[in-house]
Amino acid sequence: MTRLGGPDDAAALATIHAAAFPSPWGESAFATLLSQAGVSAILASAPTLAGFVLTRAVIDEAEILTLAVLPAVRQRGIGHALMREALRRMGATHIGRCFLEVAADNVAALALYRQLGFETTATRTGYYQSRAGVPDAIVMEKRLA
Ligand SMILES: CC(C)(COP(=O)(O)OP(=O)(O)OC[C@H]1O[C@@H](n2cnc3c(N)ncnc32)[C@H](O)[C@@H]1OP(=O)(O)O)[C@@H](O)C(=O)NCCC(=O)NCCS
Repeated sequence: MTRLGGPDDAAALATIHAAAFPSPWGESAFATLLSQAGVSAILASAPTLAGFVLTRAVIDEAEILTLAVLPAVRQRGIGHALMREALRRMGATHIGRCFLEVAADNVAALALYRQLGFETTATRTGYYQSRAGVPDAIVMEKRLA
């Protein structure tokens, strides 16, 4: 159900991202990211491509750069499976800490991250300037065994 992605997946990731976010990242942005050291994509199929998570590892820390599931296949466990696989891969290496930022009004993502054991470490007030209501960013962290 999940597999590692690469630069050849940039167009597919951009398509999914555009379906999930109001300010999507383009194919070239994904191609650039996927060519960088430490950046990994995990893709989920159900059975066609349904979502992905993009992570960046730097020394012993990792960051969730973005996570997206196509609207038509949400609430079927795909986001959870992608995050579990990303955390499993981090835990299998030397990564000791994973962090992320999420908009304070993103109920679904906040619930998912809390379910996975992420805890809030900071709030960035009015962080998402391009979004209606200018929501705060919640910074979350999970320590890996
Ligand atoms: C956030 C997102 C990735 C979740 O993907 P998903 O495949 O629908 O999530 P799952 O089905 O695996 O759900 C896992 C958990 O997330 C939470 N969740 C998911 N959708 C939810 C919703 N609409 N409302 C509340 N909680 C929700 C629940 O805790 C759920 O666990 P449960 O099924 O035991 O209740 C998806 O909604 C998405 O792509 N959103 C747009 C992009 C985005 O916001 N990305 C995150 C940016 S930080």
